[in-house]
Amino acid sequence: MVCWGMSDLSWVPTYYDDVASSYDESRGGVERARAVVRALGTLVRPPGPSVAAAASRRERCLDVAGGTGIVSAELAAAGWSVVVLDRSAGMLAEAAGRLPGRVLRADADRLPVRTASLDLVTIIWMLNLLDVATADAVLAETARVLRPGGRLVLTADKELAHASTTTVRSDDSERLGTVLPGWGLDPAGTATFSAPSPWGSARVGDPLFRLAAFRRAGGPDRGP
Ligand SMILES: C[S@@+](CC[C@H](N)C(=O)[O-])C[C@H]1O[C@@H](n2cnc3c(N)ncnc32)[C@H](O)[C@@H]1O
Repeated sequence: MVCWGMSDLSWVPTYYDDVASSYDESRGGVERARAVVRALGTLVRPPGPSVAAAASRRERCLDVAGGTGIVSAELAAAGWSVVVLDRSAGMLAEAAGRLPGRVLRADADRLPVRTASLDLVTIIWMLNLLDVATADAVLAETARVLRPGGRLVLTADKELAHASTTTVRSDDSERLGTVLPGWGLDPAGTATFSAPSPWGSARVGDPLFRLAAFRRAGGPDRGP
């Protein structure tokens, strides 16, 4: 049985394989993915529509826990050279249909990626599924793979988009703002996007989700 209590995370490993084929439509579909990438574009300047130009400028993005690749595909459309990483084979099978040859099955706390090799890492709706220790292992890995000046964009405070209170610490924005500078990732702005959700809304209308950006110290800037 799926347990939605956030203190019990035992449902996470198998849940996404089970729901992969219906996941996108139940979470706002392509409209939601576009809203994410629009908001992200206010935090990180997109490379532009030419994938070839993006590749030549080496604007590499890893969409960590990218699931079905629905957001990854919109990032690719914005010009990023994207790889989708996830540990769910079911979710990645959907992603492979969108971005053939651009999917990677792995755990987010052990990224099979070279140090300082990426311009952008995205983590959308995933930290909230992890305990704090695992979330911090993911964040440390993210800091390792970003080049100086590269950016991390993640969703924070996800449960607060659905309800007025939360016990989830892993994606708490204040906590992230404290721990990420310890790995050389400095706060670089916030944005919001709205999308339908089966988990309810803390406000009238669709929930409002928070994106937070962090910049790896040093290197050329990629600000908006
Ligand atoms: C809520 S979905 C979000 C998917 C995608 N980011 C999106 O916005 O559509 C969470 C994803 O995190 C993945 N995931 C959870 N824990 C993971 C881990 N430790 N390593 C890699 N992927 C993980 C799940 O398999 C699932 O695809």
